[in-house]
Amino acid sequence: MSPPRVIGVSGNLQRPSRTRTLVEAVGAAVARCTRIDLHIYDLLDVSPGLGASVSRKNLPLPVAHLLEQIESADALIVGSPTYKGSYSGLFKHLFDLVEPRALANKPVVLVATGGGPRHALVVEHSLRPLFGFFTALTVPTAVYASESDFRDGALANEEVAKRVTEAANQLVRMLAPAAPDLATPVGAPGTRLPAAAFWSPIL
Ligand SMILES: Cc1cc2nc3c(=O)[nH]c(=O)nc-3n(C[C@H](O)[C@H](O)[C@H](O)COP(=O)(O)O)c2cc1C
Repeated sequence: MSPPRVIGVSGNLQRPSRTRTLVEAVGAAVARCTRIDLHIYDLLDVSPGLGASVSRKNLPLPVAHLLEQIESADALIVGSPTYKGSYSGLFKHLFDLVEPRALANKPVVLVATGGGPRHALVVEHSLRPLFGFFTALTVPTAVYASESDFRDGALANEEVAKRVTEAANQLVRMLAPAAPDLATPVGAPGTRLPAAAFWSPIL
């Protein structure tokens, strides 16, 4: 059986990139736990054509390829630098071009970097709602790192590294062979709830 294909999307618009380093760190941590086919893409590489693409029609090849990689991945590791308190406009533009149902139930790790710690909740306030729109399965631990958490281009903060490991472990669990989908929705006419599934209304 071929290993799951994990696609990293780093929203960096410069190189070297702290965001890319963080996406790589999560990818490496996942690869230490389980066999994966990992590919990481930089937004910088598709940025000229992406900015000019306002629909899925006639996309430049690199943009079309990246969208296809994102939509067909078994899991995503997605990161953005913080720009003005959120993900960058071009990062959002890329995901505006993703088919609305393409990421449903797809496991996703969220990461972001910023100049300092002030915007650490960008992962929860910007990235998580975006992937909530897609009904993706974002892992509970998101990872944020500030400029001071890196030294010589490498992650140098133990607490951030712990979160990287935690997020990677959560992704690995989600990559385990999935239980089959329920053929019939629970509670559909003619079906019975399992004995353990009862609840009392909160009054
Ligand atoms: C246009 C622009 C806006 C930025 N806005 C913020 C911000 O609001 N908050 C923050 O913490 N850092 C901000 N930064 C700093 C970057 O988020 C930070 O340097 C990031 O780590 C860069 O990631 P990269 O190395 O992957 O490009 C901004 C940088 C740029 C260029």
